[in-house]
Amino acid sequence: MQRIFLIGFMGAGKTTVGKELSALMNCSFVDLDQYIEQRYRKTIREIFAEKGETFFRDIEQKMLREVAEFEDVVISTGGGTPCYHHNMSYMNEKGTTVYLKVSNRELVRRISRNQSTRPVLKDFTGDELTQFVEETIAKRSEFYEQAHVIFEMEAKDIASDTSTLYACLKDRKPTS
Ligand code: S3P
Repeated sequence: MQRIFLIGFMGAGKTTVGKELSALMNCSFVDLDQYIEQRYRKTIREIFAEKGETFFRDIEQKMLREVAEFEDVVISTGGGTPCYHHNMSYMNEKGTTVYLKVSNRELVRRISRNQSTRPVLKDFTGDELTQFVEETIAKRSEFYEQAHVIFEMEAKDIASDTSTLYACLKDRKPTS
């Protein structure tokens, strides 16, 4: 049985890699944010706006515990998921965790193109966004780096990164 958790900052490519990896592994794919949106029938942005971040972190924890029961699955998590409610140690127990590591510069480039769906980014622009990414990664790294596999993304070619990751995961023992 395989259960892979993809973790990493916003813009790391967790959803794109997750979809491609799940196809290569012949597993199903779950995106935790989409799972939450379907369950609560609201976008992540609406949940933050109406109920606040503490509420979001509570339901994120709850939904993570639901999807972590699925088998033969690749799960892409939200950028903050590993950093709240002991989620990182929980995921490490339930499956194989993979940190998709991307340079801060590339993260800023990617998320500035897709900022409006991500409430934690507020309306930061230019240097503010760079500063936010640097400071937040500095705080979150201690969680991200607990992953079983730390995978440095090349940033240019997600498909080739995914096949390298697939080759590296194939040599690992299945979850149980
Ligand atoms: C968040 C990342 C988002 C989403 C929410 C909070 C974060 O997921 O869970 O907006 O705190 O980094 P993505 O990493 O998929 O954008």
